[in-house]
Amino acid sequence: MKVKGNHFETIWINEENSGLVQIIDQRHLPFAFRIEDIKTAEDMFIAIRDMHLRGAPLIGAAGALGMYLAVLDHPGKSISEGYITEKANFIKSSRPTAVNLSWAVDRVAEDLKGLRPKEEAVELAKRMAMQIMDEERENCLKIGQYGVKLVEELSNRKNNDTVNILTHCNAGWLACIDYGTATAPIYRAHDQGIKVHVWVDETRPRNQGARLTAWELSQHGVPCTVIADNTGGHLMQKGLVDMVIVGSDRASPYGDIVNKIGTYLKALAARDNHIPFYAALPSSTIDWQLGEGALETPIEERDANELRMVEGMINGKVSEVEIIPRDMPAVNFGFDITPARLISGIITERGISLANKKSIFTLFPEKNLNPD
Ligand code: MRU
Repeated sequence: MKVKGNHFETIWINEENSGLVQIIDQRHLPFAFRIEDIKTAEDMFIAIRDMHLRGAPLIGAAGALGMYLAVLDHPGKSISEGYITEKANFIKSSRPTAVNLSWAVDRVAEDLKGLRPKEEAVELAKRMAMQIMDEERENCLKIGQYGVKLVEELSNRKNNDTVNILTHCNAGWLACIDYGTATAPIYRAHDQGIKVHVWVDETRPRNQGARLTAWELSQHGVPCTVIADNTGGHLMQKGLVDMVIVGSDRASPYGDIVNKIGTYLKALAARDNHIPFYAALPSSTIDWQLGEGALETPIEERDANELRMVEGMINGKVSEVEIIPRDMPAVNFGFDITPARLISGIITERGISLANKKSIFTLFPEKNLNPD
């Protein structure tokens, strides 16, 4: 997507130096646009853990590239399986909830099975990481192509009046390689001339909505308005929301989705107000082992200081201020589970399914190991 008119993706291998991975460092947005150099698997671990980059599909790609860097870094002439397993476990331990991370890292590790000459391993790891990035870029494009039909329908029903879409957190191109998941249908609709407006949940405590989603939508010229996290229900009651689209960090094959904390409340409010609630996700976000209700999902609990401190611009300088005293108990869960019953549909790269096992396996029959 575009940043000040120039095309950018979120992560890439430097064209002149193939040992250097570069990312958009999201910690500085929307105040500054900075590129960060990632030179080692350890750098990548920190970038994922400390959210220099974030969002499930992007975390997956970063994990795969982290494996590539780990192989490059190996001092010997051949790479053992033990080394690969150790590095894979290390990178996978950077964040627990988005299943894309283990999905991508394991794909690279699987490709590298067995003792190999280093040169061959480097080529294999690079090829697999690039393939994952290509697939995820394409998947998001397709999510946009399928999802735009939902926006189109609403626009027709409103006689081409503006379609108001509420989204939570950042499931935009910054959370992916390009296009986004929840935002892909929105960008597509906007580019096709359909009038859209996005209500952007602020998304406390890290404010991914206010800082990232609003920024990237604005860069592309999509009209949007930031709202405090608790505003959605009121807007829905007033008839100011036509649909909700969110992303996901892990989904069950039964149609439950795990997403940024607060998503569940939006789904409840949408159901009470008869507003369609969609999740947009590539199949790399579906944890095919997960049971009904997605209850086994490890829900990340982050440092409570993320809640106590707020970062912002003061007199032209980015600074942090304390808004909750340090000795006040605080707890910071990163994600919640929205049960399938509250979800109108799941927009994937293969089409839109209902949030149930039958419909999901109809789109992904090869994943159904026990067809009845
Ligand atoms: O904690 P984050 O910022 O990595 O959260 C992940 C997300 O970006 C959201 O939960 C998003 O809605 C799903 S990922 C496209």
